[in-house]
Amino acid sequence: MSNIIVLGSQWGDEGKGKIVDLFAEKFDVVARYQGGHNAGHTVQVGPQKFVLKLIPSGVLHSGKQVVIGNGVVIDPQALLDEIEMLEKAGFDPVSKISISNRAHIIFPFHRLVEKVSEGRTDRVAIGTTSRGIGPCYEDKIGRRGLRMADLLNEKLFYSLFDDLAADKRTVAEAFGLDAAIDYEGIREDYRNMAEKIRPMVRDTAALLNGLIASGKRVLFEGAQGTMLDIDHGTYPFVTSSSAAAGGACTGTGVPPTKINGVIGVSKAYITRVGGGPFPSEDTGEGGNIIREAGLEYGSVTGRPRRCGWFDVPLLRYTAMVNGFDSLIVTKLDVLDGLGDLKVCTAYNVGGVITDEMPAGNMLLESVEAVYETVPGWDQPTSGVTRYDDLPKEARDYVALLEEKTGVEVGAVSTGPERSETIVRPGSRLEKLLG
Ligand code: GDP
Ligand code: IMO
Ligand code: MG
Repeated sequence: MSNIIVLGSQWGDEGKGKIVDLFAEKFDVVARYQGGHNAGHTVQVGPQKFVLKLIPSGVLHSGKQVVIGNGVVIDPQALLDEIEMLEKAGFDPVSKISISNRAHIIFPFHRLVEKVSEGRTDRVAIGTTSRGIGPCYEDKIGRRGLRMADLLNEKLFYSLFDDLAADKRTVAEAFGLDAAIDYEGIREDYRNMAEKIRPMVRDTAALLNGLIASGKRVLFEGAQGTMLDIDHGTYPFVTSSSAAAGGACTGTGVPPTKINGVIGVSKAYITRVGGGPFPSEDTGEGGNIIREAGLEYGSVTGRPRRCGWFDVPLLRYTAMVNGFDSLIVTKLDVLDGLGDLKVCTAYNVGGVITDEMPAGNMLLESVEAVYETVPGWDQPTSGVTRYDDLPKEARDYVALLEEKTGVEVGAVSTGPERSETIVRPGSRLEKLLG
């Protein structure tokens, strides 16, 4: 029985929410392993659209458990708001959610620290989601953060919170910040929220390993995308967590020996939100057309997404660090009727043609994308249910991506709905899904 990881292979928003929701049917548990409410995973079920931020995208299925792993950072207010949103829509999330007692907690002052950092004139802004994600992970790595287990122990929480508050006061003083922070108010608010959250908090590493031992199947859901990974992404224009496949182990406590497959999700083109290098970005008419056709506006912040063409070197790189068994290409329908399509097949680095991903950010900023132009298709791909019924040029496009990236395309998605997905018969993906 296989446990698989489904994660983003580009800069996020690849359509992971849709795919995880669809595949959840075949699994017993969906576990998130990193990130926080910076994620925005859209799941469309008929006329209803849900944007899930912290809660794994399996929550809309009955009889499934969802786990928020130790690698996730949790803003308790955001969690309670999301639970309320789901309850109003007729779901019963509380009975399904397990939250790791080792997950770190976001406090309001984390957002403030981020605002100050992003506003500095002596530093290029990352263009973050302003959710306090980075500063919370900073406290985690700095070994002064507070975890769910601490929140639930009143005495310990008061003492640890006061230590953290003292630390923040010292930093504020050093930077000459005089923003009034009501630390005592925050402390009381968090203690009140703790009691609402308590029934969901447990040792999720023990839970997941126990379930796996009893033959249950776990789907690990990545947030963000590999190019936003703290180690493997376009540092420093990244998020602060391990979005790549390795993060599924550290972020849940499930060992690599229990994971049987890694599935990448990629758009048929590419987008990015926030700052940072983007070799195949189309800042002209092409990018605008993709943005409007693909409704490429952030699901969390509403920001217009930067748009560009499928980037082969990038995908080869993310396939390497994640070990993709199969790739799912989403939003193929967005390319319907666009005419000729460009595919970035290599980078020109100061006259040298390469398909390697440079580590240096400045270098990646300066690379020029080398394009191949291929014919597009006019007939709609949405509504097609058999792979062989897709327009020939669309199949050729997918075949080109397979050939150039060296990864099987196990499924294509041709619309936001669950039914608008074609898993290719005989693919490795089909076998992994079982
Ligand atoms: P995620 O963060 O990876 O889950 O992706 P987002 O939800 O942020 O963005 C993907 C957007 O594309 C959402 O609005 C989805 O409803 C939508 N979507 C997903 N797959 C497809 C597809 O195949 N075609 C179209 N047209 N839209 C899709
Ligand atoms: P999903 O899971 C796209 C980007 C932000 C910014 C950088 C750092 O929906 O794919 P952060 O707030 O995390 O410190 O911001 O990362 N970013 C995302 N971009 N999709 C996401 O999530 C993202 N989460 C963070 O725009 O550039
Ligand atoms: Mg998203």
